Amino acid sequence: MTREGEPRESTASAPLLVVIHGVNLNLLGERPSVHYGSFTLGELEDRVREAAEARGYSVVFAQTNHEGEFVELIHRFRKKAAAFLVNPGAWTHYSYAIRDALELVKGPIAEVHLSQIEEREEWRRVSVIAEIARVRVMGKGPEGYVEAVDRLAAVARGDARPGGDG
Ligand code: DQA
Repeated sequence: MTREGEPRESTASAPLLVVIHGVNLNLLGERPSVHYGSFTLGELEDRVREAAEARGYSVVFAQTNHEGEFVELIHRFRKKAAAFLVNPGAWTHYSYAIRDALELVKGPIAEVHLSQIEEREEWRRVSVIAEIARVRVMGKGPEGYVEAVDRLAAVARGDARPGGDG
């Protein structure tokens, strides 16, 4: 289910941010650096954890290459998560199963992509989760994840600017 078997959960009683990486994102560092940079998933998570904890969240990270497991992770955290940050990888472009699962979650959802999907191949320009994502960030690498955390925190405070993309 995850690289290390189980999602890593902080123990604090702070609001919970659930970060789920989808298919092939375990291989960051090996994937084409022109789109994805040369950092590893572990390095990305360290950056996100630092940003999230600084904004008062406790964080759970998970990565899976199995669509059904991605769905089950959403089910598992759908009620306890204060917010979700997801990068479903290629599933973004066609998984109505993931979209349907995300529709069940309580808190706001951020959709994040390392690359600028709207400037790549035609098929990557479609996101089937765009409509239900409160926050969308793409093409900004790891800092895009930090921006998404910031914007989720702003939504929680009730001072988010309207609109998705950024
Ligand atoms: C991605 C973009 C997707 O098109 C691709 O399949 C990925 C990563 C991104 O982060 O830029 O695996 O979601």
